[in-house]
Amino acid sequence: MPAIRYELIKTCKQSGARLGRIHTPHGSFETPVFMPVGTQATVKGMSPDELKEIDAHIILSNTYHLFLRPGSELVRDAGGLHGFMNWDRSILTDSGGFQVFSLSDLRDITEEGVTFRSHIDGSKKFMSPEISIKTQNDLGADIIMAFDECAPYPCDFDYARKSMEMTTRWAKRCKQAHARPEDQALFGIVQGSVYPELRKESAKQITDLDFPGYAVGGLSVGEPGEVMKEMLEITVPLLPADKPRYLMGVGSPDYLIEGVIRGIDMFDCVLPTRIGRNGTVFTSSGRIIVRDAKYARDFSPMDPECDCYACRNFTRAYIRHLFKTGEILGLRLATWHNLRFLINLMSDIRQAIREDRLLDFRKEFFTRFGYPL
Ligand code: GUN
Ligand code: ZN
Repeated sequence: MPAIRYELIKTCKQSGARLGRIHTPHGSFETPVFMPVGTQATVKGMSPDELKEIDAHIILSNTYHLFLRPGSELVRDAGGLHGFMNWDRSILTDSGGFQVFSLSDLRDITEEGVTFRSHIDGSKKFMSPEISIKTQNDLGADIIMAFDECAPYPCDFDYARKSMEMTTRWAKRCKQAHARPEDQALFGIVQGSVYPELRKESAKQITDLDFPGYAVGGLSVGEPGEVMKEMLEITVPLLPADKPRYLMGVGSPDYLIEGVIRGIDMFDCVLPTRIGRNGTVFTSSGRIIVRDAKYARDFSPMDPECDCYACRNFTRAYIRHLFKTGEILGLRLATWHNLRFLINLMSDIRQAIREDRLLDFRKEFFTRFGYPL
């Protein structure tokens, strides 16, 4: 029995977007879905009960961070990530194939793996496909990711080609090293930078390896939005229709909608939690910086249309005060709201797919939110 099952419920007649359901050993959830990021085995500022209260069904955690601290054997002995952090719903772990390139310094990339310096104490570490998978087997997430190289942007064609080809060889090694295929689904990752022929070749090579799900990686790394959309239009049609598709590192409202329209089922991003912690919140009429002086006497909720705990109980003036005085509750309420905002957005997107009107929904949302059409 495979670890997960993807059920395609319906396709939006207007946009081609997919409504589905993923069943994992820790429950099931509808797709398209947004996964809050819990890098260090915690979604910063939110308890597991609070995550349930906002209707989160799957969260993401990071192999790179947990490998460095506290180490995967400790997490394994605590009952895996589920036991360690007391989250009994689904978890996905990223492989380290992005963080090792974005967070550590002095990277030395070879066919065998990556030598890097820990961003914590500067000590020398080594990560390979086999070590990433062993670490992810210890962490015990329901969905784990192949160890890939996320090429930087910009990146010349020759580097992008070599990197993509090595990512394919690494994906094969990940599959061979995977010790728990019966209860952890290993997803492959398509790379290829911004080059259409490399994206197509990568999609062919990675799908030939037959994974239970596929991610599109190497996007949202600084390329123009038009380029990201073009890469999705080239890549997604080459992925099998009966498996989930995950766009890594995307979480702005406009690109969640654009991704879904192009056939994506899963997303993750630090954006809602990160901007929340510095006082920026989504509202149904665009982003606001609730820390700003202009909200000092604004006694309305962050977003009058939001049903979250923060919006039901507190005003912009109060939350601004919490930020100005450095009170912890301020970051918690802004995080809480931003996550609930994106979870509500995904629910609205799923309803629009059900009713075959996702393109109309995009137009209405972009108009209200202040995005250019
Ligand atoms: N997160 C965002 N982009 C990527 C990517 O290309 N690879 C991995 N492993 N994680 C990511
Ligand atoms: Zn709210």
